[in-house]
Amino acid sequence: MKMDSVSRRLFLKQLSVAGAGAIVYSARNAEGLSIAKAADPQATTAQTSSVLNKEAATRAQRMAWWHEAKFGMFIHWGLYSVVGQHEWAMEAEGIPILQYELLAKHFQPKPNAAREWARLARRAGQKYMVMTTKHHEGFCHFDSKLTDYCATRQGPGRDLVREFVDAARAEGLRVGFYYSLMDWHHPDGVRCKTDEGARKRFVEYSHGLIRELMTNYGKIDVLWYDVDWPMTAEQWEAERMNQMVFELQPEIIVNNRNGLEGDFSTPEQEIEAAEKGRAWETCMTMNDSWGYNRGDDGWKTAKTIVSNLASCAQGGGNYLLNIGPKPDGSVPVESVEILETVGKWLDTNGKSIYGTERGSFSWNPNANYTRRGATLYIHQQYWPGGSPAAEWLPFFQPATVLAIGGLKTKVKSVRLLKTGQNVPFTQDEFSLRLTALPSQAPDHPTTVFEVECEDEPVIDHNAIRSQWPRYKVGIGEELSK
Ligand code: GLC
Repeated sequence: MKMDSVSRRLFLKQLSVAGAGAIVYSARNAEGLSIAKAADPQATTAQTSSVLNKEAATRAQRMAWWHEAKFGMFIHWGLYSVVGQHEWAMEAEGIPILQYELLAKHFQPKPNAAREWARLARRAGQKYMVMTTKHHEGFCHFDSKLTDYCATRQGPGRDLVREFVDAARAEGLRVGFYYSLMDWHHPDGVRCKTDEGARKRFVEYSHGLIRELMTNYGKIDVLWYDVDWPMTAEQWEAERMNQMVFELQPEIIVNNRNGLEGDFSTPEQEIEAAEKGRAWETCMTMNDSWGYNRGDDGWKTAKTIVSNLASCAQGGGNYLLNIGPKPDGSVPVESVEILETVGKWLDTNGKSIYGTERGSFSWNPNANYTRRGATLYIHQQYWPGGSPAAEWLPFFQPATVLAIGGLKTKVKSVRLLKTGQNVPFTQDEFSLRLTALPSQAPDHPTTVFEVECEDEPVIDHNAIRSQWPRYKVGIGEELSK
């Protein structure tokens, strides 16, 4: 969503070259038009609203698996992977289209690379995969009747979307398609904004490609639109787009990046819960690039990833974590290591993530919280103890003590998820204290406590600020004792 940085003049100049490009855009896109042709405008509006109402009505049921899943794998893979300098290379470096097209010939991934991704996703505890079927560069990873700029007719010589779908299914994972509406390659991709003829052609082309994706690969679980620049939802005929999608895939989930609300919001590179009742998914890179970027060494740690996953779950959201495979399809070793560490942690602690619900919790500098019903999970990132204060303050005895201020619900029992051991605790109106803990964290990158409460756990340490008994200002009796 970095369109602010786009120089539109350069953009236009480049695309006017594309008109003469070697890649053929076929006129055989009648399929994509069938809905529009069939109906008069009034009937279309009525039909469209009924489909959108139905979409809202079936949402909870369609999204049940997705809410349970919490963790997915995003895959950015394209011609830009051959360059290896971020997926925006074409525009960010101003590569002429006719040169960029040569990459399509040199993109020759090893067979079934997607199986490697799917196995990795399963080991990592991810429950669904979303792959770029066409990114902004315009190259289609699938077999298309509408363009020759596609995997089957270029270097790969085979349908990479088919391989992806088969791989995900073989590992028992749900299947999602990323699709960029913005297209830097198609001759109408910019002039569609101002030229009605171009708009019609480009909308037919785009709807046609989406129709192919929704028709040729069996049941698809997620459609993940991206960047709708340069047109409005009306110009994209986005309602008709979704209508077609739901007719072909009645159980699918769609995001909000085609100008419509869709089923879920898509905060990017940040964790920000949507308003209550609205589904959301944070998508994030493991380093700083979505596409393979040889020089990008800004890797997050597994600890950060685990913490982000828990933060998303805390707010009732999902976490879609990206890999940027190399041109041959292999996954950078750093990503593999991070995902395997996260997967091992989930083997023990998955209960504290999958199927959890949005909670009402205050900020904690050392931990995240998740919950399911009346069970609270404390994800302790930074282990307490080792402080001289433990000698002097009864509060911190018997050491090591982990305290949570502002828990409003009565606790029945506490245990460590890693070992299953029960943990001694005390509780008063201000604080829950877990006591006599080991001096070193029992689990890595984060230790999780399962806390059974009498009711839905609510944590609000702001509330204790006003209730706390305050003593004298300055040196008073309590301190001088
Ligand atoms: C942005 C970027 C794009 C990436 C996407 C993922 O829209 O343009 O490169 O695919 O975010 O959310």
